Amino acid sequence: MKTYLVTGGAGFIGSNFIHYMFGKYGKDIRIINVDALTYAGNLENLEGLDKEYDYIFIKADIRDKKRISKIFEENDIDFVVNFAAESHVDRSIENPEIFVETNVLGTLIMLNSAKAAWENEDGSFKEGKRFLHVSTDEVYGSLSDPEDYFYEDTPYDPHSPYSASKASSDFLVKAYVDTYHFPGVITNCSNNYGPFQFPEKLIPLIINNALHGKNLPVYGDGKNVRDWLYVDDHCKGIDMVLSNGRIGEKYNIGGHNEKQNIEIIHIILDTLREILPDDDPRKKNVSDDLITFVTDRKGHDRRYAIAPDKIRKELSWEPETAFKDGIKKTVKWYLSHEEWMAHVTSGDYQSYYEKMYEGR
Ligand code: NAD
Ligand code: TYD
Repeated sequence: MKTYLVTGGAGFIGSNFIHYMFGKYGKDIRIINVDALTYAGNLENLEGLDKEYDYIFIKADIRDKKRISKIFEENDIDFVVNFAAESHVDRSIENPEIFVETNVLGTLIMLNSAKAAWENEDGSFKEGKRFLHVSTDEVYGSLSDPEDYFYEDTPYDPHSPYSASKASSDFLVKAYVDTYHFPGVITNCSNNYGPFQFPEKLIPLIINNALHGKNLPVYGDGKNVRDWLYVDDHCKGIDMVLSNGRIGEKYNIGGHNEKQNIEIIHIILDTLREILPDDDPRKKNVSDDLITFVTDRKGHDRRYAIAPDKIRKELSWEPETAFKDGIKKTVKWYLSHEEWMAHVTSGDYQSYYEKMYEGR
């Protein structure tokens, strides 16, 4: 039985990954979820799993050297999947420090603890160990040529404090591979969407605001392009890279689904109008008139687009969810999880929202 140490498993992608893995391997795997439960971590996402599967939650911060080393000492970890991070670009523009602390220092502590646990006396590493660092396409910067894509050898050119911190953590993983022959591997994925995404990000924010008749803030001219991938397709890619990816390599993950932000907003509004029954009181709130162009994000990257040729060719990864189906599933999930949304948008989120969008 393999033991996975998943960091940040109470967040959006991490919790989807844990569900995906138990859905696929059931009782044949053990997962230890280490999460500090910041504003973005929510244990509701994982309710009931411990009753059905070999699942353990440990509330711990990846910056806490002692706690993290102890977790490695007390458990024979085979795979680390490092999701834990501060993940929101707008927050990184307001407060970059925590991004460096968690994303850079936290990753270094994870690497060091895994190295100490997995290294043999002669400096080689125990068989079968893997450290997968989950990263983003944002490290590559912004594409200006509409025919261009991000490949694994595209030079890093991060612009936001978030992407700079992720780039730094990627380089640390690479440094451990190059220096110690550490069994690390990196995935760089495009924008994810799906259940459990915190409503500070574009898709759940638009769904939530539209349902409540609140303005739909579009940064700049709305023509910035993101390459959207259904979260389960990302999870599938991570699983494949862990099992069969080559140590020391990096793999881009994306499904060639580029869309302008304004297109995404129209698709969400159309989907809500299609799905909501006429007698649902929320339906009357859904209107194109809510679309509001606001001051652009500082340093706003224009276009991201992944070339997933390597993972396709080497590991036969293919995305399974077409955007039209994925967005319907996602909207339906949010419609049936009003209580989840109410919980995560209460308290701190209110003041964040007011501050972030004030005067925009
Ligand atoms: P998220 O913000 O939803 O979740 C992050 C999780 O990490 C939360 O559960 C939070 O509590 C936890 N966390 C934060 N700081 C921590 C710390 N110091 N110690 C322990 N846990 C901590 O993020 P997400 O969208 O699920 O992203 C997960 C990872 O995937 C990140 O590394 C992100 O850079 C990467 N990524 C995200 C996307 C995307 O579209 N969301 C795309 C590509 C890559
Ligand atoms: P986001 O979901 O924050 O992801 P990222 O910045 O990591 O790509 O934003 C996706 C796109 O949507 C990005 O171009 C910024 C834009 N955006 C808006 O136009 N309005 C909003 O309120 C938000 C949160 C994002």
